[in-house]
Amino acid sequence: MNKFNSFELRAQWFAFFKERGHSIIPSSSVIPENDPTVLFTTAGMHPLVPYLLGEKHPEGTRLANVQKCIRTGDIDEVGDATHLTFFEMLGNWSLGDYFKDDMIKWSYEFLTGTLGIPVRKLAVSVFEGDADAPKDGESADIWQKCGIPKDRIFFLPKKHNWWGPAGLTGPCGPDTEMFIDTGKDACGPECSPACSCGKYVEIWNDVFMQYNKNADGGFSLLKQKNVDTGMGLERTTAILNGASSAYDTDLFVPVIKKIEELSGKRYADKEYTRAFRIIADHVRTSVFMIGDPRGISPSNVDQGYILRRLIRRAIRYGRLIELSAGSLSELARAYVRQYEEVYPELTVNAERIYGELKAEEERFVRTLTIGLKEFEKVAAALGTGARIDGKTAFRLYDTFGFPIEMTEELALERGLTVDTKGFGEAYAEHQQKSQAGAEQKFKGGLADNGEATARLHTATHLLQAALRRVLGPEVAQRGSNITAERLRFDFSFGRKVEPAELAEAERLVNEAIKAGYPVTVAEMTVDEAKAQGATGLFESKYGESVKVYTMGTFSKEICGGPHADNTAELVSFKIQKEESSSAGVRRIKAVIG
Ligand code: SER
Repeated sequence: MNKFNSFELRAQWFAFFKERGHSIIPSSSVIPENDPTVLFTTAGMHPLVPYLLGEKHPEGTRLANVQKCIRTGDIDEVGDATHLTFFEMLGNWSLGDYFKDDMIKWSYEFLTGTLGIPVRKLAVSVFEGDADAPKDGESADIWQKCGIPKDRIFFLPKKHNWWGPAGLTGPCGPDTEMFIDTGKDACGPECSPACSCGKYVEIWNDVFMQYNKNADGGFSLLKQKNVDTGMGLERTTAILNGASSAYDTDLFVPVIKKIEELSGKRYADKEYTRAFRIIADHVRTSVFMIGDPRGISPSNVDQGYILRRLIRRAIRYGRLIELSAGSLSELARAYVRQYEEVYPELTVNAERIYGELKAEEERFVRTLTIGLKEFEKVAAALGTGARIDGKTAFRLYDTFGFPIEMTEELALERGLTVDTKGFGEAYAEHQQKSQAGAEQKFKGGLADNGEATARLHTATHLLQAALRRVLGPEVAQRGSNITAERLRFDFSFGRKVEPAELAEAERLVNEAIKAGYPVTVAEMTVDEAKAQGATGLFESKYGESVKVYTMGTFSKEICGGPHADNTAELVSFKIQKEESSSAGVRRIKAVIG
């Protein structure tokens, strides 16, 4: 086998598919843009769904890339030799172009030629057929013609040889998977790639996407026959280098070394290996979540919650190996350096990554020690096999920041269980109470004060423009809330805003108010708005029209309104307070008039 490291493997992949007429496209965001049914991008095909369904891709009908993927279903398994929450998927696609013949032939060529894997080490599986789709004898024949012996071709059912859809509905189809035979003794005569004994390790998957899974659970034929393939970069790098785990390849070794340096412990020490892997994996995934162009922050919902769980779990395992506080951002630095050529967005967002990790670490570490003591008290009072009630689990969550999964994990270590249903109820009750509070405030403010609201809202435009002038273009709106009395504006910024900077922003807004700029609005496409230098969230699709509000030369922003007619209506502007809202996000409260 050719001992390619991860950089060489990516390069080989690109070269191979370029030679065969493919356009190399960049990795998409790890946060899916158009699929609310999943939190993260889990496969290279995911961002390509519209094109698999028939839309024309600007780069043509043959594409290849390496996609950043996150799969967090098995977080608790991380720590063994194989599970990872982030991985890179090498992929290539035919959008109604070539099909089984070319793809299987190329797969054979890439595996045996480019990667130099001996044919005797390969095995493949194909779809055995069922009521939804026929047996894939065609793929088996092509494999055999390539040189895979008949007894190394396994027919398997849908559970093993059907891929997709990525969400609840969408493109999917039968696949043919390729395996390395590790040479381990078969566990019995029935052993096949469907078996989990470890003899066969999957290396590549060619999906023949010609079906759509519909909302009613049925399958219909797509307009075109597509190919979607995926090869895990981490696993393949390990296989090529004879490593039993990706943690022993160039993808992780630098960070593992850094953990050794910071903790004074050895990765090879069996007592610590698992903790090292958990930390290395979770920090890497966090770096890609925060450093993504659509980067997220730790929070208590959706993607932000997964991120929080990863960071807090890494911190907890860090304590087991006496990793000092603040180490996570040090490790993140090593990753940013390692990936700087492949994923430059990490370098661009580096400060945000370090800032978020540091802030979350500070937040959690403050309560972790007391929380763990509290947990020990709870555990000691209960006998083995007992259940921690929902209210207690909620207290650990609410007061000490323990994600429920962490309480469950700690409980498991002590032979206890957790009443997660009771936790859910306590959580819901708490939410209802705070919701009622929020509605109360809303009634007192926005509802019947149209003009005051419009003026305050106009002031947030001026404030954002002023902050960008004083603090730089990294300032972007993260949220806003207006009552009749005041405005509240949340924006991305990595540190406290100094009093002098606040004073300058305030002065600029007052200057813009005095200038008496008329507030004008124009409708245009997102691209036109971008070309004019408007600020705002460029989330909408090309071609969609947006409203751009302009206030003289001072502010130009995409927005939905309502606004004052002239900045002079604001009379004057005063900042009351600047504080932290969440990691990397600052909050300003201000009044006008
Ligand atoms: N979508 C398939 C997979 O994730 C092939 O890329 O395995």
